[in-house]
Amino acid sequence: MTTFEPIIRGAERVSVDDKAMINARADVNQLLPLKYGWAWDKYLAGCNNHWMPTEVAMQADIALWKSTDGLTEDERLMLKRNLGFFATAESLVANNIVLAVYRHITNPECRQYLLRQAFEEAVHTHTFQYICESLGLNEGELFNAYREVPSIADKDAWALRYTQNLENPDFATGTTEADQNLLRDLVAFYVVFEGMWFYTGFAQVLSLGRRNKMVGIAEQYQYILRDESIHLNFGIDCINQIKIENPHLWTPEFQQEIREMLTEACELEVAYARDTMPRGMLGLSAAQCEQYMHFITDRRARQLGLAPIFGEDENPFPWMSEAMDLKKEKNFFETRVLEYQSGAALDWD
Ligand SMILES: [Fe+2]
Ligand SMILES: [Fe+2]
Repeated sequence: MTTFEPIIRGAERVSVDDKAMINARADVNQLLPLKYGWAWDKYLAGCNNHWMPTEVAMQADIALWKSTDGLTEDERLMLKRNLGFFATAESLVANNIVLAVYRHITNPECRQYLLRQAFEEAVHTHTFQYICESLGLNEGELFNAYREVPSIADKDAWALRYTQNLENPDFATGTTEADQNLLRDLVAFYVVFEGMWFYTGFAQVLSLGRRNKMVGIAEQYQYILRDESIHLNFGIDCINQIKIENPHLWTPEFQQEIREMLTEACELEVAYARDTMPRGMLGLSAAQCEQYMHFITDRRARQLGLAPIFGEDENPFPWMSEAMDLKKEKNFFETRVLEYQSGAALDWD
């Protein structure tokens, strides 16, 4: 059952064995007994990582943005396109959870995490509203970028195809074709959007922060990155659990299709990196971003149990994994630092 079936008075209590990721028989309104400890652990880790963008001081960023020689033209272009991508990406991800994924995942502890994640996506969208207001950016330029900047439009149009399949009110899981459509959507949003496409953007802004530029935004991106690494890992666990419970979905042809999705997504990201940094900057070049994206794509393929696509074993930005460890790097950006209780999730990248 998915949600609103009539109550059967006196029906038997929920058995763990009846719980399943998709097409479950068990009542979705009963959280306990838990079946998937990994989903509950991520819900707790997400709650422990709670933060709000307005807690981060923006004075240094505002002064730098308004000064005439604080940032180069290349840095401004990169930052605007970067913010322009994220400003709507967070909403696309949130809408996919609420309007497409939630209905079809029939497990209450996974739904508990999805509710937490949906709120975190709202916090992330809030971050871009707060940055826009703080720096006095043009609202239309920022939030309409995905309809004005071709490399952003290309990425979002690619991902939207997968959520449009599920959004149809007549869509229902339970056939091989429909269940594979759900898996494609989970790959497109969790693995590609949150697990690949966000990472060039994180590297760009954290690289600015490492050079003491736009330190408030860089600190906010660190918190977003920490959240996103849990979102990504939740998505990977969901996909792998659905595979375990429904091995007939994971055919060699379907695996090949997923590898092609990852390859296409990587190409779109490389084009976006070139578009945001035509001349390179801050020790990052579009070529390094390409190498980084190959490295990340291979990592995601392995996490899904697929063979690597590019054979790229070298991470050109090893400092990215350090930037994720907020405990260790607490004073990294020397902005106001809050004592957030960190989850156990910091090595999840
Ligand atoms: Fe997000
Ligand atoms: Fe996310």
